[in-house]
Amino acid sequence: MATRVLLTGGAGYIGSHTYVALCEAGYECIVLDNFSNAAHGVPDVLEKITGAPVQLVEGDVLDRGCLDHIFHAHHIDAVIHFAALKSVGESIANPLAYMQCNIGGLVTLMQAMKAAGVYHLVFSSSASVYGNPEALPVPETAPLSYASPYGYTKLACEQIIAQAGAADPKWAVGVLRYFNPVGAHPSGLIGEDPKDVPNNLMPYIAKVAAGELPQLSVFGNDYPTQDGTGVRDYIHVCDLAAGHVLSLKSLLEENAGHLVNLGTGQGYSVLELLDAYSKACGRDLPYQIVERRPGDPAASFADPQRARDVLGFQASHSLDEMCASSWHWINTGAQKPG
Ligand SMILES: NC(=O)c1ccc[n+]([C@@H]2O[C@H](COP(=O)([O-])OP(=O)(O)OC[C@H]3O[C@@H](n4cnc5c(N)ncnc54)[C@H](O)[C@@H]3O)[C@@H](O)[C@H]2O)c1
Repeated sequence: MATRVLLTGGAGYIGSHTYVALCEAGYECIVLDNFSNAAHGVPDVLEKITGAPVQLVEGDVLDRGCLDHIFHAHHIDAVIHFAALKSVGESIANPLAYMQCNIGGLVTLMQAMKAAGVYHLVFSSSASVYGNPEALPVPETAPLSYASPYGYTKLACEQIIAQAGAADPKWAVGVLRYFNPVGAHPSGLIGEDPKDVPNNLMPYIAKVAAGELPQLSVFGNDYPTQDGTGVRDYIHVCDLAAGHVLSLKSLLEENAGHLVNLGTGQGYSVLELLDAYSKACGRDLPYQIVERRPGDPAASFADPQRARDVLGFQASHSLDEMCASSWHWINTGAQKPG
């Protein structure tokens, strides 16, 4: 019998790509999503890509009754918990909503898992738990902090997972600290499509390239980096999805948890990314330099060694491939869900 995995937030950006990777690797998946940040058409598109119907529960991870029902109705071997609110700016404006969804969601889920006797969990954490990194590349042992309520929720969730594990050794949790996921599935049928003005750089540039936004604002060009603009570690979302498959496999085989960075180890500046995207879309994209944004680190990129050692994970897509796949997704708009 195939290993069955519950994907909370499985209709979202990273969840949908991971769904495809898991199906390709032979796992059976159930998606739980409340569609607060996903188009209702995503399950149909996933069916089109994988060639098999999607098992979908439309519901909320805060709804304990809904979770109990899922665990009662299906034999679940493991859970990948993507469902969360993820906008740094929104979290500053509305921190309580972030505490409730991100921290409350994890606690509700882990309680339901425990009651069902399911102890294998992959958790979506973030490089935001490193705050403003002191040394580069950033290893998992770097000091932890946060610069926003969103970052706080990820750090708090990691601590909750650690404490639950200390109290009950049955837990085997893979904590994955994503750097900056970008790009889209090669089919061009799934990708990141923010409802509002994007918070993240690549989706913003994509909207400039598509003519939906006039120009990119580059926050500061006087950082101590190669060209003065902020440097980040961008990772193709398909590489990230492959990392989840490896994490799950390791949890199930080793019956032990891990905590790893998922990044490439390579940092690119804002202007380097803009240049690569300009090449992908075939025109120079307009930008203006504006004031630094408070709280933004000058540079952040992962030390990817532990993920390589523990999971055998190695990102393979180049920056050009990340930009090309994003632009392909933007141009396959007619088939876009929603
Ligand atoms: N995208 C990034 O840059 C990034 C970076 C680091 C970490 N992460 C984390 O990765 C995870 C997935 O991110 P994403 O980029 O795919 O975001 P996303 O918003 O595209 O996906 C999250 C999904 O969860 C769903 N959801 C939200 N709250 C829910 C709830 N209470 N119950 C059920 N479903 C709910 C949304 O509808 C959405 O489909 C999140 O935990 C996020 O914090 C993302």
